[in-house]
Amino acid sequence: MTDGGMTFQARLARKLSEALAAAELPLTGDVTPATDPRFGDYQTNAALILAKQRGENPRALAAKIIEHLRVSDICEPPQIAGAGFINFTIRREAVERQTTQLLTDERLGVSRVEKPRRIVIDFGSPNVAKPMHVGHIRSTVLGDALARIASFLGHEVIRDNHIGDWGTQFGMVIHGWKNLLDRAALEQDPIAELVRIYKETNQRATADPAVREACREELVKLQAGEPENFAIWQECVGLSMREFERAYEVLGIRYDIQRGESFYNDRLPGIVERLLNSGLAEISEGAVCVFFRDIPELADKPCIIRKSDGGYNYATTDVATVDYRVRDLKADTVWIITGAPQQLHFRQIFELARREGYTADFRHITHGSILGEDRKLMRTRSGDNVALKDVLDEAVVRARKIVDEKNAELAEAEKAQIAQVVGIGAVKYADLSQYRMTDYIFSWDRMLSLQGNTAPYLQNAYVRIQSIFRKAEPPSPQPSPASGRGISSADANGRESVNPFSPGEKVRMRGMAEATILLNKSEELVLAKRLCQFAEVVPTVLNDFRPNVLANYLFELANSFHAFYEACPVLKSEEPARASRLALCNLTARVLQRGLDLLGIQVPERM
Ligand code: ARG
Repeated sequence: MTDGGMTFQARLARKLSEALAAAELPLTGDVTPATDPRFGDYQTNAALILAKQRGENPRALAAKIIEHLRVSDICEPPQIAGAGFINFTIRREAVERQTTQLLTDERLGVSRVEKPRRIVIDFGSPNVAKPMHVGHIRSTVLGDALARIASFLGHEVIRDNHIGDWGTQFGMVIHGWKNLLDRAALEQDPIAELVRIYKETNQRATADPAVREACREELVKLQAGEPENFAIWQECVGLSMREFERAYEVLGIRYDIQRGESFYNDRLPGIVERLLNSGLAEISEGAVCVFFRDIPELADKPCIIRKSDGGYNYATTDVATVDYRVRDLKADTVWIITGAPQQLHFRQIFELARREGYTADFRHITHGSILGEDRKLMRTRSGDNVALKDVLDEAVVRARKIVDEKNAELAEAEKAQIAQVVGIGAVKYADLSQYRMTDYIFSWDRMLSLQGNTAPYLQNAYVRIQSIFRKAEPPSPQPSPASGRGISSADANGRESVNPFSPGEKVRMRGMAEATILLNKSEELVLAKRLCQFAEVVPTVLNDFRPNVLANYLFELANSFHAFYEACPVLKSEEPARASRLALCNLTARVLQRGLDLLGIQVPERM
């Protein structure tokens, strides 16, 4: 790879290791973005680490390293700061070269990983016969963003929906189906009716042991494959899947496979057998358990894989799931995304997998909750979970008001599509811009604001740039907006975006081969440096699964763009500044679009 294809951070890291080698010092320390822009763009703590190891003076070591650093083509002479940091300020000419190269780079500088992994991402995974509620947004949106980013980086991603389609609730659902079902209501709103019969049966079972026993018998029959119960179960699954699919369509989510819990049924007896034979499991009080006696936090928390009544459970299914993903799907990495309460469960499952000799990299990626304005779990007035469908519908209605106010003269069809893109984008971004473990308060006003770290703010920055281009070359080849592809978004697999509004990357790059970026004003330089950071930021998202790092970057990029736009006239400036500034606008729009696409969010051309 040529130097031009590497980020400044990567090039400086390489120069640092060359300098350390030349100075006969051990390789150590990283190059990181500067913590304070007054000290430059990047810094390294290499001298500090070496000083500690060797008991030498850190500033003297820093001076020695600098003597061997050959970085004059990239940055100003490195400076020693504080206790012994080395600071780097990238030279304007280097930024000009780098951004000019980005103009013709489809990947905007982001390189593919050297060792692609095969990653199963288990996300969303709602439960059948229950409505998807607002809480499902987190796992679904987070998993989708991680999948997009991982595939953009060159990993092979398998998106798996581990639907909760099997379990003890079906005893009650089937009993309710046989005794309480209102067919007309089922046709009207299937999930609501399923929830109703489940809830009522649950109440009856609590009050009446005979009902409880009857439910248990229905469950046993289902598990034995009795045709009537099996057919009822299948119908429930089908109805739920249709509902999930509608939500996925609105959200632009797709799965490669949907292996629900029931998929693993046949494998469960063999799993228990195997674990008993290998001695990893034992019988305790009639149940089959795996003990982790040597791990203090787990010592008194055995994992039950067959209950004393002979039934299998959530854990048994997940042991089978590990097998399937590693042996059948040949995954070397598994990411499972759920709320924090399942931490203990996956700690046990992964520990057991390790004992069985699995070497794949298993990660449980947890998230916090969505709270209402009262800081308690978000609920409706009647105390129920807030249905996801209602949230998504309301998002679009509210976004529509913004469009009506901002741009009343647009055609009806376009307004409707913009409202989708802005409303759904706002809900997703509100989630992804938070650190995943933090609980956050769901606030319509905040997420739909055109100011601040929100999707509409970023979309608006993009739209502003598009309007500059429309003014620059009025009859340019704009793809027709309302071409009706729905809002299903492209996957990030380096493929062309299917966003109906936005021209693909190739169209974007047209005419950019001749452009040269010149950075004479400080606002231009700041913006250009930010554009170069995109390639550094995207891979770091996967370090600790934090799409909020990318979101914050995009927010800062939009801020830098606005500062640039205030300070630097674009269309009214003279050549060669005009072409250069248009090129900066072009790059900014492409980074915003690609960055938001990696978060599963689309951009409208107008709003
Ligand atoms: N259905 C589960 C729930 O709603 C999430 C499943 C997560 N994946 C897994 N392999 N257990 O909590």
